[in-house]
Amino acid sequence: MAELEMQALFEATGAARENAWINSLEQYRRMYSRSIEEPEIFWSELAESFFWYKKWEKVWDCNFDIAKKPIRIDWFLGAKTNLSVNCLDRHLESGRGDQSALIWQGNRPDEQRVLSFRELHREVCRFANGLKTAGVKRGDVVSVYLPTVPELAVAMLACARIGAIHNVVFSGYSAELLADRLVDSACRVLITADGAYRGKKPLPLKQNADKAIEICSKIHNHRVERCIVLRRAGLPVSTRPEIDIWWHELVRELPDRCEPERLDAADPLFILYASGSSDKPKGIQHVVGGYMVYTGVTFKHVFDYHDGDIFWCTADIGWVTGHSYAVYGPLTQGATSVLFEGGANFADPGRICEIIKTLGVTHLYTSPTVIRTLMKQGDEWVDKCDGGSLRILGTVGEPISPSTWRWFREHLGKANCPIVDTWWQTETGGVLIAPLPYAIAQKPGSVALPYFGVEPAILNDQGLELSGPAEGKLAIKRSWPGQMRSVYRDHQRFEESYFRVFPGYYFTGDGARRDADGYYWITGRIDDVITVSGHRLGTAEVESALLAHAAVTEAAVVGYPHDLKGQGICAFVVLKSGIEATNELQKQLILHVMDKVGSFAVLDKIRFTTGLPKTRSGKILRRILRKISSEYSDLAAASESVKGTGVEKPQSD
Ligand code: WT7
Repeated sequence: MAELEMQALFEATGAARENAWINSLEQYRRMYSRSIEEPEIFWSELAESFFWYKKWEKVWDCNFDIAKKPIRIDWFLGAKTNLSVNCLDRHLESGRGDQSALIWQGNRPDEQRVLSFRELHREVCRFANGLKTAGVKRGDVVSVYLPTVPELAVAMLACARIGAIHNVVFSGYSAELLADRLVDSACRVLITADGAYRGKKPLPLKQNADKAIEICSKIHNHRVERCIVLRRAGLPVSTRPEIDIWWHELVRELPDRCEPERLDAADPLFILYASGSSDKPKGIQHVVGGYMVYTGVTFKHVFDYHDGDIFWCTADIGWVTGHSYAVYGPLTQGATSVLFEGGANFADPGRICEIIKTLGVTHLYTSPTVIRTLMKQGDEWVDKCDGGSLRILGTVGEPISPSTWRWFREHLGKANCPIVDTWWQTETGGVLIAPLPYAIAQKPGSVALPYFGVEPAILNDQGLELSGPAEGKLAIKRSWPGQMRSVYRDHQRFEESYFRVFPGYYFTGDGARRDADGYYWITGRIDDVITVSGHRLGTAEVESALLAHAAVTEAAVVGYPHDLKGQGICAFVVLKSGIEATNELQKQLILHVMDKVGSFAVLDKIRFTTGLPKTRSGKILRRILRKISSEYSDLAAASESVKGTGVEKPQSD
């Protein structure tokens, strides 16, 4: 089967191909070689299409070698720019002011807001002035705990305008996780909403924010000084005049012009926390210049963006996909971006079709989880769905199986649209490996070939680079402009996490295979990160939540293949002596983890045991647990397999 799948090739033809920015394999290869051989000229040319107050003195200067510390990544050295000017002002000057920048669809079908570039510019300037009034200065961190509403994009762009560093925290995260992120980033200003809508239930965001602020002050002695609250859901909220201020009151009477800061290309733009191997998430730090250029050009090339296209990235803005391809990438190119508050994961298929149809969406960029959810509803509704406007489909976040890929192509794309399966990470800022839609033929399940300037490598366990067809660990050999620059306030952790294991390379944490055509196939994470419905989660984060429960003495968490979510969460739990493993306790633990981590962190399997398999030095043997959790859905069988490993017959799921 796998071999057969590898033979399948899909190639786009027709007028769209002729007009494409890159429309043949030969053109791709020529540009790719140039990007590797003459990176200075290549990236200078691409960067020229952006607005700069001052051009760079040098294109790049990097050190990937941990033996010659520090690890340093620098692009467009000496240049000055402002990302909000690139996303807004320059489009007003070029006559795009009346074009829609953001089309927002509320959770309720009758709620829609359209912001033209001119209107978005005004909102951003006004809120940037509001931030200044609230005491925010260049270099300060501003945390944003908002759902996908236009104000989230406004807040990000306002920070970018005044040189503040935004730290968006996914609105599905719990108060505890928000508090961790506020403390770690030493953040004093938080933006939130009274509530948010996702699916059917309103989320009490302000209540969570209050709790987080309290945890900050009581446990960590960290004071959040200001909380700006957007009125969204009409939920009652407590307001403390010394901290809270309504968004609308803050901006009332403020001017809608705001002089942008002239920022260094190397100034921080944002941090976004991502799970890793420990229970402490990493503040992935991106900078103004390199991130701007990289998200802008990858948006243009990978999605073959042209004027008039309507781009819908279904990811929540709280994740990097939303940052790069719902906000910054599209806006730098003057594109129209569709935001959907409801979250595609929760929407019924009819709603998705309706949005595509009424807005004339040309690009749908989504995740395998969303596609699997749609698939589950049967083909009938989707076959009736008028997706005639669609030109390109995209997927990201987890490996997509060839059958899901084919379903996506045939039923949503009506066999007419190229599919770009894009591989990248929070750390990479933008897409690193993907088939350029009109230049690179697609194989279902493969992310195909590297973007310009990206040099992937497959390494064996010893760190030896393999050539030709090979399978191993995926690393990147040289820097690209969108690369993260540091872990916020912990550069050493950046060096240790990404450059220590395989000296000389950026290590991705993923496994991959390269076939005889040089196509890459991502096989999944090889560290302790799991991807649940496209959400990245550290097993250590879930374990530490479990350990905080009074009944638990030891816990180990692993991911296992799950039909709908991609990976499910399986927890092995050792209870304190005298505590009985009841169904009631199982339920309690599930709710406890959701409360501590976030509503998406649902334990799919809990297995009570009297001990965990460990090495002599006490390290948990996750490999064994992974095997148990994935190989046996039948619990009686699982108990057989664990004899001698210390894991006992588990309770029912
Ligand atoms: C991890 C990064 C960057 C977008 C959203 C996720 C997995 C990402 C693919 C893909 C197979 C993929 C990898 C990666 N991943 N895209 N097209 N095929 N796996 O960002 O939360 O930083 O997670 O997502 O395992 O390392 P993230």
